[in-house]
Amino acid sequence: MNIDIALEKIEEKGYLDVAIDPTLDLFEEIQKLKKEKNAVLLAHYYQDADIQDVADYIGDSLGLAQQAAQTDADMIVFAGVHFMAETAKILNPTKKVLLPDLNAGCSLADSAPADAFRAFKAKYPDHIVVSYVNCTAEIKALSDIICTSGNVEKIIESIPMDQPIIFAPDKNLGAYVNKVTGRNMVLWNGSCMVHEIFSLEKILRLKTQHPKAKVLAHPECEQAVLDVADYVGSTTGILNFAKKDDAREYIVVTETGILHQMMKDNPNKTFIPAPPNNGCACNDCPHMKLNTLEKLYLCMKYEQPELLMDEQLRIEAKKPIDRMLEISRKAGLIK
Ligand code: 13P
Ligand code: SF4
Repeated sequence: MNIDIALEKIEEKGYLDVAIDPTLDLFEEIQKLKKEKNAVLLAHYYQDADIQDVADYIGDSLGLAQQAAQTDADMIVFAGVHFMAETAKILNPTKKVLLPDLNAGCSLADSAPADAFRAFKAKYPDHIVVSYVNCTAEIKALSDIICTSGNVEKIIESIPMDQPIIFAPDKNLGAYVNKVTGRNMVLWNGSCMVHEIFSLEKILRLKTQHPKAKVLAHPECEQAVLDVADYVGSTTGILNFAKKDDAREYIVVTETGILHQMMKDNPNKTFIPAPPNNGCACNDCPHMKLNTLEKLYLCMKYEQPELLMDEQLRIEAKKPIDRMLEISRKAGLIK
């Protein structure tokens, strides 16, 4: 497809469908475009290895939100999923925010439609709403505070014990936080399609085959999986734990993209991806993996697709994100 037709079709396709000269060094081209356009490239740990390697900053959702809040670049290119780029736009209304493929959604965000959540919230008028950042701007606008897996315990601890809370949209993260903080939050019934399908049976089998391996799990996993984990935390938490810990082998129960940094940081350690309960050996997020180096290059070159949003919604969605950043700063989690 030529670029004019691709630009015309961008709403329908969600990305620029243009053939690229195969002799181009995309790493070099992307670096050039970053300088030319004063763009910052933010990438999540679940992105393909080559995207992580060309990024200016790789992080978990909290780190990425903080980078987005602080950047002085004119353009933010987000190699992640829609809610992450949307969060960057909410924090930076005057900057151009690009997402290589607008179809990169999130099953967790999709599991909380705004109308159904509004009706659910109305049943608990004395509750405040804490929402995991993996949700749409509409859900954020209906929330009092946003959290990520990196700050959720500090966010919940900042709320008086006698204040009832609705937690949305991830029931697994909510149940985990209820357990570690002793709360009884009302949970919205959402989940992540990647983390909910890890097979406990296969993890236990791996543990018998590798008796010295430690299990590192993301809190979006089901409780039975978290119960056998040696460490539970955000992607950054998991990476930091693996760096500091002195074991040699780890069973990693989160999306496989994280293995790239784990192996880079710890060349002498072994990381075994935990298998899901479908026939696959490892567990990729189909949304995260929609971004490719080619789409990233095209979106930087033509500055499309751009993430745009309604201004009133943006203002409403920003309030609970600001509260999250403020609590995280006070707790020393971010600068
Ligand atoms: P964190 O990187 O914040 O732990 O989030 C994981 C995730 O599922 C992002 O979609
Ligand atoms: Fe959403 Fe799960 Fe994919 Fe993260 S891993 S983007 S929570 S579907």
